[in-house]
Amino acid sequence: MKRTLFVIVVMTMYSMVCDAQKASSNIIPAPVEFEQYGYGFTIDRNTKIIVNVTGNEMQVAEYLHGILDTLFGGIKPIVAKRDNPKYSMANSIIFILTGERKLGKEGYELDIQRDRIMIAANENAGFFYGVQSLLQYYGISPNGEFSYLIKARNQSDTTLKLVSSTEAGCKIADYPHFAYRGKHLDVCRHFFTVEEVKAYLDLLAYHKINTFHWHLTDDQGWRIEIKKYPLLTQIASCRDQTMIGHYRDYKKDEPLRFDGKRYCAFYTQEQIKDVVKYAAERYITVIPEIEMPGHSCAVLEAYPQYSCRKGGIKAEGRWGVFDDVLCCNDSTIRFMEDILAEVCELFPGKYIHIGGDECPKTRWKECPVCQATKQKQGCKDEHELQSYFIRTIEKFLNSKGKSVIGWDEILEGGVTGTATIMSWRGVNGGIAAAKAGNDAIMTPEEFMYFNWYQADPKTEPLAFGGLTPLEKVYNYNPVPQGLTSEEQKHIIGLQANTWTEYITDFSNLIYMDYPRVAALAEIGWGKNSTYEQFLLSVERLKPLYKKYMEIK
Ligand code: ACM
Ligand code: ZN
Repeated sequence: MKRTLFVIVVMTMYSMVCDAQKASSNIIPAPVEFEQYGYGFTIDRNTKIIVNVTGNEMQVAEYLHGILDTLFGGIKPIVAKRDNPKYSMANSIIFILTGERKLGKEGYELDIQRDRIMIAANENAGFFYGVQSLLQYYGISPNGEFSYLIKARNQSDTTLKLVSSTEAGCKIADYPHFAYRGKHLDVCRHFFTVEEVKAYLDLLAYHKINTFHWHLTDDQGWRIEIKKYPLLTQIASCRDQTMIGHYRDYKKDEPLRFDGKRYCAFYTQEQIKDVVKYAAERYITVIPEIEMPGHSCAVLEAYPQYSCRKGGIKAEGRWGVFDDVLCCNDSTIRFMEDILAEVCELFPGKYIHIGGDECPKTRWKECPVCQATKQKQGCKDEHELQSYFIRTIEKFLNSKGKSVIGWDEILEGGVTGTATIMSWRGVNGGIAAAKAGNDAIMTPEEFMYFNWYQADPKTEPLAFGGLTPLEKVYNYNPVPQGLTSEEQKHIIGLQANTWTEYITDFSNLIYMDYPRVAALAEIGWGKNSTYEQFLLSVERLKPLYKKYMEIK
């Protein structure tokens, strides 16, 4: 991927778009407390980064150092105050460990004074978010490759100053409302390269999203290398062709048209590790999703012995929900456990997502093997059979120290007390989960599916359907009505999902996700803005989003 490296010569510390009485930070998500000064601070290539001790905060100090180094094409090394007690604090960005309880793990204080900037936090994530706010305040792109606020520049000029014209420093105290702030990406219907996923993570981190849900397996392709089962990447990672257009474009009984192009892609385990590390450096936990028992056509092409009809199944070139699913028996469960054992090694986070959605029971009802399992396990119907499948897998994952997330269908045949539910078919799954004492993540499709249209379909590129404009996303409240305060604690946060049937490239992905991710971030952080302020902040970020749409 080629990124334009802008040599920034002079950059204005951007004027606040605000009314005279109450300044708006223009940071997304808007900070809890924000106060503007009548003076500001200029960052230039001589600005020093100072840490008190070379302890924890060093990691984020180094990250900021890398960004400014890229931006200016060289800056001074980080200074450890302990080793240089007489060192001048002027023209510096200072990292300070604090014991401020209200900031929690992810909170921070950012103080942009006349001659220095101070970032205080309890933990690294807090320092990291302080830096993100700093970058947004100055209009510096996530990795320091360009500024999106300043037009410029004479590339040969080496004065390399960040100058403030309508300068205004500020004091921020900030911390999130929800612990879980997630964004999902489907890489099965269309694939995104490691470089693209990294760029995607950069933007998420920039908006203080802390969880990336990576949808790695589905009917149309298996995208993760599993060493024990090489056919998953040799066969299941490919589909022969892809349907053209949307079902609604076809007349009744009109045959589907296909593009005739084989589509193959997957991530090696080394690439997965690389992405997980990259995410961790941005305080993002990656949750892999390995779908079961539905959405499994691709895996069943490679390993037909785990289907109910033992053959004739192909990775799908159509979109939708398909009858061929994993056969419910011990050998299938062992197969999935083997896969998950490798997955657990690759993803150090607490959660593994095991899908559980949209699993038709057509085959199970006809399959003698599934029926035998049903009888043996004392299940009264196929929903309970699915519940048996999921619970057995959950036990296995628990034995590996992991917790399970599933789509809200896993509630149907009875769920264990420990699974976390992703409520996507509206909010009822989340309500039921919270009432049962299970944690829930709210991702109702009507508000949180960013593959839905964001404006009049007549003016938009082809999308799934529905309509989820920015304001509707912004107005979503993830805590459903009717829960007691104890039950509300089980709503651990929210997530937006982007399924990529109609999203064929990175540019379109960014187009669909932004600025809706900005609204997601705003809700997740606790919505400290009015919608009007939020829109002004979005305007300011639009040139950044545009740049990301142009990444090749
Ligand atoms: C889903 O959209 N099938 C979770
Ligand atoms: Zn079966």
